[in-house]
Amino acid sequence: CGIIGYIGDKRAVEIVLDGLKRLEYRGYDSAGIAYFVDGRIKVVKCKGKIKNLEQLLEHENHQVLNSNQKPFVAIGHTRWATHGKPSDVNAHPHCSGGIALVHNGIIENYSELKRELMQEGFKFTSETDTEVIAHLINKYRADLSLEEAVREAVKRLRGSYAVVVIDEKEPDKIIGVRMESPLVVGVMDDEKFIASDVPAFLNHCNRVIFLDDGEIIVLRKDDFKIFDLQGKEKKKKPQTITWTASMAEKGGYKHFMLKEIHEQPRSIADTIRGRVLPDGSRIVYKEIGISYEELALTKKIYLVACGTSYHACLIGKYMIERIARIPVEVDIASEFRYREVPFERDSLFIAITQSGETADTLAALRYAKKSGVKTLTICNVVGSTASREADGVFYTHSGPEIGVASTKAFTSQIVALYIFTFALSKAKRANPADINEIFLSKLFHLPTMAEKALKLEDKIHQLAKEVYKKPNFLYLGRGLNYPVALEGALKLKEISYIHAEGYAAGEMKHGPIALVEEGFPVVFIVSDDLYLEKTLSNMEEIKARDGFIITISSSKEEKLKKLSDRFIYVEGINSYLNTVLFSIPLQLLAYHVAILRGCDVDQPRNLAKSVTVE
Ligand code: G6P
Repeated sequence: CGIIGYIGDKRAVEIVLDGLKRLEYRGYDSAGIAYFVDGRIKVVKCKGKIKNLEQLLEHENHQVLNSNQKPFVAIGHTRWATHGKPSDVNAHPHCSGGIALVHNGIIENYSELKRELMQEGFKFTSETDTEVIAHLINKYRADLSLEEAVREAVKRLRGSYAVVVIDEKEPDKIIGVRMESPLVVGVMDDEKFIASDVPAFLNHCNRVIFLDDGEIIVLRKDDFKIFDLQGKEKKKKPQTITWTASMAEKGGYKHFMLKEIHEQPRSIADTIRGRVLPDGSRIVYKEIGISYEELALTKKIYLVACGTSYHACLIGKYMIERIARIPVEVDIASEFRYREVPFERDSLFIAITQSGETADTLAALRYAKKSGVKTLTICNVVGSTASREADGVFYTHSGPEIGVASTKAFTSQIVALYIFTFALSKAKRANPADINEIFLSKLFHLPTMAEKALKLEDKIHQLAKEVYKKPNFLYLGRGLNYPVALEGALKLKEISYIHAEGYAAGEMKHGPIALVEEGFPVVFIVSDDLYLEKTLSNMEEIKARDGFIITISSSKEEKLKKLSDRFIYVEGINSYLNTVLFSIPLQLLAYHVAILRGCDVDQPRNLAKSVTVE
């Protein structure tokens, strides 16, 4: 989502609309603006692109221009749905009393708060988590100033948020608050900007203050004040931004793909957020639309997808079969849809899709549904076709993915599968409860460990320089790392156009080994688990043929290091979650090799982000 707000003597609505267009890369399915006309807040919002909003505003704009109220104030939002499908009512801003606000992030405890506010008589008009914030502020506003009411309201929120608020009772200010969702302020002498990202206003202002978590800012046309959540004032000085607008869109990264790779600690945290309690003792089932009892009855699972999402399915198979003890069949959607599958009773069909729009995946989903099978989708785009058509949805919440080669969406799919597997395991009573808890609590280390894996980038960059001219690559892994090898090879192939194959390491001797000659690069992905010994033998076989062994591993086993020409140690968690951690250096390797070869990594030739044709 994207936020922008303006206070000053210029045409606020035009500035905010322009800012929204500059934020469209953050994803959009609806947009809206709130502004003052003669002391009253007017809200214009609608589903669809910002163009639609612009058309609506054309009818209204004369009111703003003819209004004699100064300063001009407006706030705007481009939404990328997390709770509630894209629609006119779910679009931001949301209002309560004379208050209007926009929000990015996810409020974890919104259903509790909603219940409480409804009992107190507040009327909800949308399905969003955001509306609770508007009503909460309105509630506290009865006895307090806007600033105090915002402070009291956010103390009640759990989750991530960047919120920007305006109020008819205090029309000369905008208030912003940040918690784990970015918010940046643009400071000019007699005008102020506030946005989720610098490019929203970089054409007007390059003096900025990045807010930190737990900070509230009160903006007036010619003044600003920052407070902590206790109301204590904090001093912060603006800094000057030297980025160009396009650099700023990518958060200072050269490409969306690189930005998305680096976003993973955060996107993973967003997938976990609100689903599992930190001690692992509770998983939230109700949001996925399939009951605990139904899960308990499940006897067989079909996991179906295309491309990178298919690799997530393969990882899911290893997880579900081992942990929840339910047989899993995995298939590519284009095959599954015509396979005339004799579905077994009490089966669950799961379509994994980032976009929710891939034609073959949708066809497979419809086929399963028509056959009377219960369906679920693990999907990133709220309101997408898959999410509307499946019986249940498990959203990955990894945020919009712009780079054609999927990175953060993939790792979030793995995390979603891990959570889902334990939900199944609990329902099926496949493991003692404490085992589930131990495994689930490990999830909370994943964002930090992903951060550590990202620190390998310099090392990977050096490695890329050594190998980028090679015409072929082989990626090998066993168990859970077999799909990781497939995904590593796909990433390299997709964006660098180098021929790369992923293989089960044990199967290598039945074909691919024929390719191996001196200097032939073979990437091994190895966890510190029961496969370690076996994989060592496969490495010996490559070594004996003078292949160039690159090892990505969570094991510090001496033999492993000795056999490797290049050894990349990745601190691991467990075999399941290591699939996420190993994927990060593999994504970085593909990225740096592709850059060295001069390829367009964000839009590789012949590929599409979402394949909506058969
Ligand atoms: C295309 C994209 C891939 C993606 C696949 C499936 O091939 O380039 O990155 O993995 O479609 O897309 P989905 O949106 O269904 O996950």
